[in-house]
Amino acid sequence: MFATYQQLDFILQLVLFPVWLVAATAAGRLARRPDQRRLRRTARLLTGWLVLALVLVLGRVFAAAMMGRSGWIFIADRIALSLLAMVPAALAVVVLTLPRLVRLARSAGGGRGTPVTREQLRLAVSPGLTVPVRLAAFASLLGFFEKFLPVDNKPVFVVTMPLLALVVVGAALLASARQRVHLVLAGRRAPAGRRWAKRLGAVAVVLALVGFYITTGLRDKMPATFSMMEGESDFGGGAAVHDHGGQGGAGGAGSVSVTDLTGPALGAPDKRFELVADEKKIKLASGAEVDAWAFNGQIPGPELRMTQGDVVEITVVNKLDHDPVAVHWHGLDVPNAMDGVAGVTQDAVAPGGKFVYKFRVDEVGTRWYHSHQAASEQVARGLFGPMVIEPRTPVTAAQDVSVVLQDWATDRGKVTAFGTADQLDRRALPAGTQVRLRLVNAANTTHDLAVLGAPFRIVALDGTDLHGPTELRDRKLVVGSASRVDVEFTMPAGPVRLADLGDPGSGLLFSPDGQGDLKIPDGLDAVDVYSYGTPTSTPFGPDSHFDRTYKMVFDGGLGFYNGGFALRQAINGAVFPDVPMQMVTEGDLVRLKFINRGEEDHPMHIHGHHFLVLSHNGKDVSGSPLWLDTVVVRPGDIVEVGLRADNPGVWMDHCHNFDHTKLGMVMHLAYAGVNSPFVVGGQAGNHPD
Ligand code: C2O
Ligand code: CU
Repeated sequence: MFATYQQLDFILQLVLFPVWLVAATAAGRLARRPDQRRLRRTARLLTGWLVLALVLVLGRVFAAAMMGRSGWIFIADRIALSLLAMVPAALAVVVLTLPRLVRLARSAGGGRGTPVTREQLRLAVSPGLTVPVRLAAFASLLGFFEKFLPVDNKPVFVVTMPLLALVVVGAALLASARQRVHLVLAGRRAPAGRRWAKRLGAVAVVLALVGFYITTGLRDKMPATFSMMEGESDFGGGAAVHDHGGQGGAGGAGSVSVTDLTGPALGAPDKRFELVADEKKIKLASGAEVDAWAFNGQIPGPELRMTQGDVVEITVVNKLDHDPVAVHWHGLDVPNAMDGVAGVTQDAVAPGGKFVYKFRVDEVGTRWYHSHQAASEQVARGLFGPMVIEPRTPVTAAQDVSVVLQDWATDRGKVTAFGTADQLDRRALPAGTQVRLRLVNAANTTHDLAVLGAPFRIVALDGTDLHGPTELRDRKLVVGSASRVDVEFTMPAGPVRLADLGDPGSGLLFSPDGQGDLKIPDGLDAVDVYSYGTPTSTPFGPDSHFDRTYKMVFDGGLGFYNGGFALRQAINGAVFPDVPMQMVTEGDLVRLKFINRGEEDHPMHIHGHHFLVLSHNGKDVSGSPLWLDTVVVRPGDIVEVGLRADNPGVWMDHCHNFDHTKLGMVMHLAYAGVNSPFVVGGQAGNHPD
């Protein structure tokens, strides 16, 4: 619902300015009508036009009120700012302009050729009639440029700014309207030269301002090299802690480098893997071709299977021609030095080079790995794969399959594929088989999936088992970017289908004979994960005492970012690297409050930690506890999560839609006293996003 009102408001903002502009022009022309008939007609037309404009303004007020029901924060600053100017101006039109217009139209009873009387002229040119309309046109400008307005400002600013602007502009308009009264009543016009000079002057000023805005915007690039550790710190309302040691990880006494955070000393590895990144043309099932960058020549990369407690050693070899890579183990709480983020925990691996990751896996469940160097490009091209950690005591289903979903840019356009299945992939499975599907969404956007044909249970989210999952049938699964959903079912005698509702042509179909089909029913209800399953005890909860609380408002704003014009993806109005570091000390209980005011989903991911979801839109989680590493925050949503700071380091904390990451939606969770010697850019060409 929120998104609908948001769209309504956006369209009204765009429409209102031209509508008021036309009204203001018509109001100015009233005094120049040659006879009563035409005066009457213009007055009537203008009345109708104004009524339309007022209805549109009411529409905006309504849309804002509906959005405001999700919380004041959703309409604070920008929307309130533009509406606070619009509403008083519209009221002035109702009280001052409309009665005068009606009187004017009534008095002008004469036909064609009947001259306009002096009384009518006086009314037509009166400031009471014209100024409110022009003021409204000005106020609607604020709405028109709403997406350029600053975000998340103080209430004082929000209230005083528009009102002050109204008063100043109103006074100027009034002065010029008075001057015009004299001219018109004296039957004169300002000399043509002067009128043109005025217009040209106005155009020149506007052009100069726009030119200045564009040239400064284009020049405002990020430095070629900088440290993530520069910039401001936020302490989340907790004690200010000695921070991150300043530039380039120079570090003070007692400061620790991320490179030292390798975890406990490990013996010989139980499992060894090699991931070789290389270019490869890959054909999807339909024959569509992807110019992929792939691990070990396949998309997705090989499934890395290991057992809880294993010491694993993964060697990443870079055989790309020109591009460095780094590999991040998504959802695995590894020691910081092994986190694989270029420019934060390591230098990207140059072409021809290699890097050895080594850690012990103490967790279980479905994870995935992907490049964290130029991630918006490299993950889209195929540098990712699934990772499964089996429990020590195996409870594995007979058929345990990981399925990684991605949106591919192919020679036939954009397609969605499960693995390489961009069209229905039929597989034979005997009836009675226990199946566990480990779904991984490697795409940037949220996908609506469905499991059809058999009752199923969601047994794990982001790899962590849910408590008391109940049986579901024909339901929609909303899977945000980077999230994992494990479902289990028993093969029936007929087919079972895994479908993507956004791309019904793709999917997997299991049936005893490997044949058949299954239609996707309309209007599937989404599973509400916040109430799915049953509660059980957790080490902390919504009522615990949190040492630090961070509130993050996500919103898009038009402007320049890194030398290009874009919809900047801002956190509390700031974009990377200007978003303050979220500082913690080891042992802190930290609350994060995500608020999405934008138009798109923001799948928020924190490296190195699992968080417990506390509440969704003000309601505490009522089903199974949700321990996630990524939570999708939809437009209009407020999601609160809590985590225990128990893994020292500098951890990326970002939106997992890498197109947003690239447009600024990145911050870091940094432990006091830890610093990073790595830089963005630099010799290695590090670019985590
Ligand atoms: Cu899959 Cu920085 O994340
Ligand atoms: Cu986002």
